[in-house]
Amino acid sequence: MTDHWFEPLAEFMGPAYLRYSFTKGTTQEVDFLIETLSLTPGMRILDVGCGPGRHSHELARRGYVVHGIDISQTFIDLANAEDINGASFERLDARFMQFMNEFDLVICLCQGAFGLMTAQDEDSVVVQKMASALRPGGRLVLSAFSSYFVVKYFETAVFDADTGINHERTEIRNSTGSSEEVDLWTGCYTPRELRMMCRQAGLEIEQIFSVDPGSYRSEKPSIESSEFLVVAFSPLTKSVGPRVSEATDT
Ligand SMILES: C[S@@+](CC[C@H](N)C(=O)[O-])C[C@H]1O[C@@H](n2cnc3c(N)ncnc32)[C@H](O)[C@@H]1O
Repeated sequence: MTDHWFEPLAEFMGPAYLRYSFTKGTTQEVDFLIETLSLTPGMRILDVGCGPGRHSHELARRGYVVHGIDISQTFIDLANAEDINGASFERLDARFMQFMNEFDLVICLCQGAFGLMTAQDEDSVVVQKMASALRPGGRLVLSAFSSYFVVKYFETAVFDADTGINHERTEIRNSTGSSEEVDLWTGCYTPRELRMMCRQAGLEIEQIFSVDPGSYRSEKPSIESSEFLVVAFSPLTKSVGPRVSEATDT
């Protein structure tokens, strides 16, 4: 399997990853997804770049059948450490996923395998693989960092206007309190790019929301939120649940 620059970071952080404030909103995020997409227990969900499995665990506890994949063995071990009926995990690189027509829903949240790439266009490969994993009528929920927000508010970071990658020197901590300075690369997007990428993968856009970690909400895209949350569907047959009506232009 191809190595990825995030793997040593995950190994260093281990369980301390779940101390970061951006991981604290899992219940709100899952509540929003269930309500907005009218999900029903028993649905099969693929969690791409699942990390230590916080969304997978929460969804499995509520009766969903979730398979989480992540490139980091450290995070997969942490996810497997919680024995929750309906949740399974596997180390896999999202760029090489082979799932076909298997899932009612694919989620890719908090830069899970999307936006942590090293080369241009790898994110679109991941979107294509996620589209293939969906059964006809299934849906994709994908969060992406906002280019607008980063340019407006991330004063200490360096935004590469050519690639859309935000470069940040930041400190990460492990469970013993030791810290390490690392280069964090985050691929950033606009709603327009996300629409084009999804359509290229054969998906149709249902809605794009402006959200923040722990504050998922039905808000039109703006430049004031850190992330965009895309809801798209595989159009071949009818959708899993009622569609969220498109409030913005596409
Ligand atoms: C910021 S974490 C988000 C984890 C989780 N989705 C969450 O919300 O906490 C990004 C995750 O994506 C994983 N990842 C990055 N590139 C990946 C790839 N190509 N395939 C699978 N996982 C990947 C990383 O190992 C990491 O666990």
